[in-house]
Amino acid sequence: MSGGAGFSVTAVGGLPEVQAGADLAALIAAAEPGLADGDILVVTSKIVSKAEGRAVRGDREAAIDAEMVRLVARRGPTRIVETRHGLVLAAAGVDVSNTEPGTVVLLPTDPDGSARRLRAGVRQRLGVRVGVIVSDTMGRPWRTGQTDTAVGAAGLRPLRDHRGHPDSFGMPLEVTIAAVADELAAAADLVKGKTAGTPVAVVRGLAGLVTDADGPGARALIRPPADDMFRFGSADVLAARRTVREFTAAPVDPAAVRRAIAAALTAPAPHHSTPWRFAVLESPEARTRLLDDMLAAWVTDLRGDGFTPEQIDRRTRRGEPLRRAPLLIVPCLHAEAAHTYPDQRRNASEREMFVVAMGAAVQNLLVALAVEGLGSCWVSSTMFCRETARAALGLPGDWDPMGAVGVGHPAAPAPDRPPRDPAAFMVTM
Ligand SMILES: Cc1cc2nc3c(=O)[nH]c(=O)nc-3n(C[C@H](O)[C@H](O)[C@H](O)COP(=O)(O)O)c2cc1C
Repeated sequence: MSGGAGFSVTAVGGLPEVQAGADLAALIAAAEPGLADGDILVVTSKIVSKAEGRAVRGDREAAIDAEMVRLVARRGPTRIVETRHGLVLAAAGVDVSNTEPGTVVLLPTDPDGSARRLRAGVRQRLGVRVGVIVSDTMGRPWRTGQTDTAVGAAGLRPLRDHRGHPDSFGMPLEVTIAAVADELAAAADLVKGKTAGTPVAVVRGLAGLVTDADGPGARALIRPPADDMFRFGSADVLAARRTVREFTAAPVDPAAVRRAIAAALTAPAPHHSTPWRFAVLESPEARTRLLDDMLAAWVTDLRGDGFTPEQIDRRTRRGEPLRRAPLLIVPCLHAEAAHTYPDQRRNASEREMFVVAMGAAVQNLLVALAVEGLGSCWVSSTMFCRETARAALGLPGDWDPMGAVGVGHPAAPAPDRPPRDPAAFMVTM
């Protein structure tokens, strides 16, 4: 061997089967008393979970339901989900291997916290400053086979940012951030056993990665939603759109709305036309003006229908999702490309063609908003008082408001969608 940089990875033998309540730091310190400053301990999350009482009796699917916050993709029985930690992985990391039949092992509640406690425990027992990684096995969407990744970390830099450093030709690197903690977890997996035997490894020779402070932990490896280009599996993106009627007060990113409108503009439309326009109501004044004027128009309609003032009051007092949305989009049909026929039948069909094209564009808009993590509610009200809506918003006379879309961050996850059997909706011939 030449004198280049190197490191070693060694499995730690002699650990007993870990039970709930076990002092993992004490077990590791006893099994590996030679731990030294700058060593990095890589510990399989399974034994951390067991020590923390996260091996529980129960059904795997129910456990996944409880651990997940968002379905990312589903294929047959396999579910890729986002966990409360923000991790995206199969089955929420719920594991039925290497645990008593009838029990499931859940990921640690706070894997970075687990790593910090383990680090402090080792320091207390052996007086050494080590880095700690809690690792779990994950698949990669475009690669066959699983590798271990860091779900928790303490006392090491989890990422090494090479951006701005020159490459071998002197050009600055633009995007490279090395996922050091994941690389270490994967290296350790080469020597740890997949069976219960050796769930801990020591990486030696990379003391430069170990820090005094516990540091940001493995949470730093979670890609922020705004940078996530693959938030849903392609087969799951349509199901991700649900009508949302309760929103948080968090503002809506105007750039996300622009991207969603760009998606709307890719809808099919007759005669190679682009018959869609969108009024985006960012200001509270514009929203209130529209909703107040529409309410007045609705009251006039109801009076005309013969309802009593009490009945009208009861109807119109009902919670209105558009009032609760932090942003409104009024999709408008601009059917200037519609052909004119001498008869009513064909004119009506022509209009319907453009209306369905509007529906396609709004569906694109809603799905794209869901991909941005935004909830939406498409309500019909502006269609019933087009003149009023146009006047309130100062829209041109040939923009036909086609409902209004309330947009915001969902206050709660949508309930499960009732299953629908395609066979009940189709005929095959
Ligand atoms: C043209 C149109 C008008 C709608 N109007 C309203 C409405 O006035 N109020 C409302 O709460 N939801 C409205 N909705 C939303 C439906 O109630 C919703 O799509 C339906 O309950 C199915 O739920 P999902 O969108 O989550 O699949 C409307 C939907 C469409 C397509």
